[in-house]
Amino acid sequence: MRIDLLPTAESIVPAELAGRIAVVFDVLRATSTIVTTIAHGCRRVVPVVAVAEAREVAARLARENTPVLLAGERGGQKISGFPHGNSPLEYPPEVVEGKVLVLTTSNGTRALNGAADGAHTVLVGSLLNARAVAREAHRPGRDITMVCAGTQGQSSLEDTLAAGMVVLEIMELAGQDSSYSNEKTLSPDLSDLAVAALYLAQAYRDNPRRAFDHSRHGRKLLSMGLAADLDWCASLNTCQVVPVVKKEGGYLFIENFSCV
Ligand code: MLT
Repeated sequence: MRIDLLPTAESIVPAELAGRIAVVFDVLRATSTIVTTIAHGCRRVVPVVAVAEAREVAARLARENTPVLLAGERGGQKISGFPHGNSPLEYPPEVVEGKVLVLTTSNGTRALNGAADGAHTVLVGSLLNARAVAREAHRPGRDITMVCAGTQGQSSLEDTLAAGMVVLEIMELAGQDSSYSNEKTLSPDLSDLAVAALYLAQAYRDNPRRAFDHSRHGRKLLSMGLAADLDWCASLNTCQVVPVVKKEGGYLFIENFSCV
């Protein structure tokens, strides 16, 4: 088994994901929000790239009498005219239960759509569900690509960290001792970026929240008064859900893996 890591949504080449499991991360905040909504009983999340398309999809679902929430963010702010934003704290069970969330974000929903263009299976990863995702992704005979959304074409500390946490969990499932003392024969076979992510995860494992203080996007969200979002997104392994991307009628949607 090989594990590779892509640092940004822009680095996705769909053909290179063929036959692979892709795990997509946009820890601050799109994939943490998706994991939270699914854990809180949301029926589906529809990840959309463009604002206009999100409005259209939500309007179509409403015409079909589907209970729908239109949500999204640009520059970290709720989109003008959208009732909901991209904060995981906006979505307690009483808000999302049984609903379909149509979501468009700056980087995360682009990464999800890009990965779904090529990969065999696309899972939604975050710190919240790192261990649960590792258990689903660790399948004999399938290579894995950790797809970090990054921020506007730049790699981000928090996505690389979460990808590293999943790599770390997979190494444990594969029986590797945590000192990685026999690195010459590391199995699974890790790309250099995956090794870097693994060591990053070791560095922040006891306090992932600190990584957000060190990251550009984390500091931006803090300056916008969103410390509570960061606290929520930093809770390691508190969710058991593994959202998976599916396709229907030309649209992507995301449901909990156990619904497959
Ligand atoms: C994104 O997709 O770029 C993010 O989720 C931005 C954010 O809301 O913090």
